[in-house]
Amino acid sequence: MAGAQYSPWSLENKIHEGAEAVVFKGEWLGNPAVLKLRKPKGYRHPHLDKRLTKSRMAVEARALSRLQKRSFPSPSLLHIDNQDSLIIISEIDGSTLFEVMTSGQLKDGMLHRVGETIRRMHELGVSHGDLTSHNIMVDEQGVVSLIDFGLAKISPELENLGQDLQVLNECLTASHSDYPGSIEEVVSGYSSLRNNASEISDPTEVIRRFDEIRNRVRYLG
Ligand SMILES: Nc1ncnc2c1ncn2[C@@H]1O[C@H](COP(=O)(O)OP(=O)(O)O)[C@@H](O)[C@H]1O
Ligand SMILES: [Mg+2]
Repeated sequence: MAGAQYSPWSLENKIHEGAEAVVFKGEWLGNPAVLKLRKPKGYRHPHLDKRLTKSRMAVEARALSRLQKRSFPSPSLLHIDNQDSLIIISEIDGSTLFEVMTSGQLKDGMLHRVGETIRRMHELGVSHGDLTSHNIMVDEQGVVSLIDFGLAKISPELENLGQDLQVLNECLTASHSDYPGSIEEVVSGYSSLRNNASEISDPTEVIRRFDEIRNRVRYLG
């Protein structure tokens, strides 16, 4: 088949279109994968837009590679194309926490595991930056994975770690108010992991900062 066109990517269907990205499901070299295409923002200058897009993609790629090396539950990076502003990552089984909670399928202990997973990510030196229930996935076995690392930080400050909990807190209050007390369950999972070898602030410090941010917001809000 000399000269035949061969693409490692085969497209199945679009699964999501948000303000920032369009997401397609398909296969990469025969394995279930997701292609994420960053959308140009009409209101930004094209050069600035290209720079911001590139930097978000590079950030996402760096965070994913770092987490994959340590077998953290997040997609693995399969391909990155800066020219076309796209990345291809492995598909994660399951549904978003948003879908699970809004369809009343939240199981006992799930939010505790969400908290543990957030702590594991922090211990690997990554903050997420956009930790809403749309960016947390849960599979049939109850395994929690995190996705969407375009606003992540490597070597985050204590403030970034506290902010991750606050973003989730705001999301749980705004979108899932029928589950009162859910952030407390996340926090209890977060504090249950303690790795003395970790260079990142210990869970108590992060939770203290989270409470500070929460009160700051309450006071100002
Ligand atoms: N690796 C993946 N496996 C399965 N579904 C995914 C994956 N990545 C994204 N999705 C789905 O697509 C949605 C949007 O992807 P996301 O990376 O969060 O992009 P955005 O920046 O637009 O929020 C997610 O909420 C999820 O439903
Ligand atoms: Mg998202």
